[in-house]
Amino acid sequence: MILKRKVKLVDQVHLALEEKVHAGDTVLDATVGNGKDTIKLADLVGDKGRVYGFDIQNLAIEQTRLILEKNNLLHRVKLFRSCHSIFDFHLSESIRGNLKAVVFNLGFLPGSDKDIITQKKSTLKALNLSYQWLMQCGVLSILCYRGHHGGNEETDAIREMIENEKWSSREFEGVKSKNSPLLFIVVKH
Ligand SMILES: C[S@@+](CC[C@H](N)C(=O)[O-])C[C@H]1O[C@@H](n2cnc3c(N)ncnc32)[C@H](O)[C@@H]1O
Repeated sequence: MILKRKVKLVDQVHLALEEKVHAGDTVLDATVGNGKDTIKLADLVGDKGRVYGFDIQNLAIEQTRLILEKNNLLHRVKLFRSCHSIFDFHLSESIRGNLKAVVFNLGFLPGSDKDIITQKKSTLKALNLSYQWLMQCGVLSILCYRGHHGGNEETDAIREMIENEKWSSREFEGVKSKNSPLLFIVVKH
């Protein structure tokens, strides 16, 4: 079922996170970008929680590190300049099955090189891994953009995977147009 909301999809993501993520939780931001989701997560997990953030671009990691530092939140976050499809290589095995939330905000880094974008193959691998590492009732948020090259294909492949894997998911659509963004909120049962 596709739900149409007046709230912006990025705000919808944060609403879903507010519902699920609490002080002391461990969470993963799979696409750090400008750090808006990382900050939101760092705020929610509190001093006893932990946020792991991944991005392939140094610019994204360093900008986010600065914003976190300014907001006195850096001690809650560990950032990695690496592809999210190998996050298991970087994280301790003890985190497997203990993530409360994993956030994907796909596409390119706003204000930067639009050719550096998420790719269907690594995105699907990272999503599968994320689902495995989530705890029961944990949430996987996937915000997809379809306006850029490969965006539609990536989104279709994600929907197909959600259906094939029989993940419990709600789908939200942005403004109504062929290339409007789509948000999948998956809850692990
Ligand atoms: C739309 S932006 C993310 C926005 C971010 N969540 C925020 O709140 O500002 C997408 C980000 O994904 C990153 N990215 C692309 N491919 C990636 C990959 N394979 N692994 C990790 N990050 C990737 C890009 O460098 C870019 O910064």
